[in-house]
Amino acid sequence: MTANSSSNRRVGVVGLGVMGSRMAKSLLRAGYEVVVYNRSPQPVGELVGAGAVSASSPQEVAKQCRIIVLALLDSKAVETVVLGEKGIVHGLSPGTILIDTSTIGPSASIGVAGKLRAKGAYFLDAPVSGGPEGAAAGTLSIMVGGDRSAFDESREIFSKIGKNVFYLGESGSGLRMKLFNQALVGVYFVGVAEAYFWAKKMGLKIEDLQRIISMSWGDSPVFRHVASTVISGDMKAGASMRNLEKDLGIILQSAKDDQVRLTLLELADRYISKAAEKGYEAYDASMLYSILDEIRS
Ligand SMILES: NC(=O)c1ccc[n+]([C@@H]2O[C@H](COP(=O)([O-])OP(=O)(O)OC[C@H]3O[C@@H](n4cnc5c(N)ncnc54)[C@H](OP(=O)(O)O)[C@@H]3O)[C@@H](O)[C@H]2O)c1
Repeated sequence: MTANSSSNRRVGVVGLGVMGSRMAKSLLRAGYEVVVYNRSPQPVGELVGAGAVSASSPQEVAKQCRIIVLALLDSKAVETVVLGEKGIVHGLSPGTILIDTSTIGPSASIGVAGKLRAKGAYFLDAPVSGGPEGAAAGTLSIMVGGDRSAFDESREIFSKIGKNVFYLGESGSGLRMKLFNQALVGVYFVGVAEAYFWAKKMGLKIEDLQRIISMSWGDSPVFRHVASTVISGDMKAGASMRNLEKDLGIILQSAKDDQVRLTLLELADRYISKAAEKGYEAYDASMLYSILDEIRS
């Protein structure tokens, strides 16, 4: 696989939500020419202000870029952007590499990878972990599955959005690792919510918990995220209920396919689904503690 270096200094980013907009900024900071597209126009202006170039469709991004990063909500979004009308598949040339950082089901990802392979293009499943903080700092953990040579060719881009980048093998293997991570994250979010709900009744202060638990076994990145979000009061900070609900759905379906029962995650899924149903889906899952009574009733 070969590529000239000037085309590799240009990269597309499709999906400018919480994660994609931050990854696009990391790539701009690293000196890349970044071509962006988002379904709704709102987030595009800020990126263009930061130096990105706006494209009118995913197809147009593919005409201009040999490597394209996707940061989309779910498998429906990925299939629409890649295979739909004015999708990437209609603008790409052979050798194009798609780096899909979205968390979607492995089988959906393998399906898209197969369709792109038939066009001579590569689709890497490259889900990330580290939240909005990691995306902003360019320190995400990235778990990659798919063609090895496409991964090798994309290493420099991975190094600008992530700090710990792991190549795991065939298509879908990055996502399988990510689902394990999300299984833990789902349990932590609900556990932190219940413990903090109780801590408030005991009169413990969040600042004290943040300081002391960060040096104790109860610590976790999820706990630290919740503590800093509660302190900032910005409950639209980023790790949305909608994303967590979607991830728990994928996990429980995959476990069911493997004839495995995950009872703690079934409970987490009930809480998060109820929160989403009650209108909190765009809020950070850090706020679960404050609506526990509502979602457990
Ligand atoms: N936030 C986190 O902490 C975090 C951490 C690790 C991984 N992730 C994963 O990363 C991915 C992106 O997360 P995020 O937090 O950035 O989500 P987000 O802020 O909700 O952004 C979702 C993006 O997907 C686009 N989208 C949704 N449905 C679409 C469709 N049918 N067609 C085209 N575009 C569509 C949205 O476009 P519009 O603006 O038009 O709605 C937006 O650009 C998710 O898979 C999530 O699970 C998130």
